[in-house]
Amino acid sequence: MIEKTLMLRKINISKNFHLNNHAVVYNGNCLDLLKEIPDGSIQLIVTSPPYNIGKEYEKKLKLKSYLAQQARIIKECTRTLSGSGSICWQVGNYVDKGSIIPLDTVLYPIFQDFGLKMRNRIIWHFEHGLHCSKRFSGRYETIIWFTKSNDYVFNLDPVRIPQKYPGKKHFKGPKAGQYSCNPLGKNPGDIWVIPNVKSNHVEKTEHPCQFPVELIERLVLSMSYEDDWVLDPFLGVGTSIIAAIRHGRRGVGAETVTKYVDIAKNRIQQEVNGTLRTRPMNKPVYNPSQAGNHITTAPWDKKTAAVQKSLLKQEEVKSATK
Ligand SMILES: C[S@@+](CC[C@H](N)C(=O)[O-])C[C@H]1O[C@@H](n2cnc3c(N)ncnc32)[C@H](O)[C@@H]1O
Repeated sequence: MIEKTLMLRKINISKNFHLNNHAVVYNGNCLDLLKEIPDGSIQLIVTSPPYNIGKEYEKKLKLKSYLAQQARIIKECTRTLSGSGSICWQVGNYVDKGSIIPLDTVLYPIFQDFGLKMRNRIIWHFEHGLHCSKRFSGRYETIIWFTKSNDYVFNLDPVRIPQKYPGKKHFKGPKAGQYSCNPLGKNPGDIWVIPNVKSNHVEKTEHPCQFPVELIERLVLSMSYEDDWVLDPFLGVGTSIIAAIRHGRRGVGAETVTKYVDIAKNRIQQEVNGTLRTRPMNKPVYNPSQAGNHITTAPWDKKTAAVQKSLLKQEEVKSATK
């Protein structure tokens, strides 16, 4: 542990890619960064691209143009990926006049056309987000995981989670009476319940869509080894590089918006110094009623519930006439 901390302290944040570097934050278009990266040199590519929904950092394009742009980037990513490497593309929905298009469904054929093989479609479930009034509120996004070949890195042991019944024993057969569980824990499965980064989250910065470090740690630990390169073409505020260097990997990413580049560098430096505050991996999700939070008890009786309902109705009418 001490050795690893000392090693982290030596890391410099570079502006351009070189195989000898440890952390690279490129301020510019990812296609330009990708040109600097040799064929087959990256073990894990993990990213959350713009969803083409008109966030402050993107220009909303026609879906066809957006997909063509993504295809150019995925093609270059595939070129830089090692034979045993993985690509994880974390996406939500594109929304067109209230109609949703799950981006993983329209991106899948692009990955398939480049010969990549899908290993999992991970559901990332979280509890906070926009409250929809004309459809059920969206409370998950997906991570689509592809590999370049059938001979790929997958380390389950570092990401196992506690069993539900670790004391369970075989009840019949030659192993009857022996414990049946793996003492290192169980496979975490393909539904991951991890809080998203909203205002109360310890990792929140001014970026509107950062992903939590713990989400990427699980991918880094299972799909790469120490000293391998991890690339994020849409780096945002540096989450993927933080997860990479935390576990002794090398991290590289591109970001076009300079204010996010500055935040990314600052967070990575804090990580190197051991001062970055993050939500620990595998920490159970906070349960307010179990924690005794008083506002989890409904304050209504029949009469006050009716008053509250009519107040809400008035608000709805007001916002509909705006
Ligand atoms: C969904 S956010 C990623 C946030 C990131 N996962 C994090 O945790 O901070 C997408 C980011 O890609 C950046 N971006 C958009 N187009 C880009 C491009 N062509 N090259 C590099 N970055 C780009 C945007 O500015 C935005 O910060």
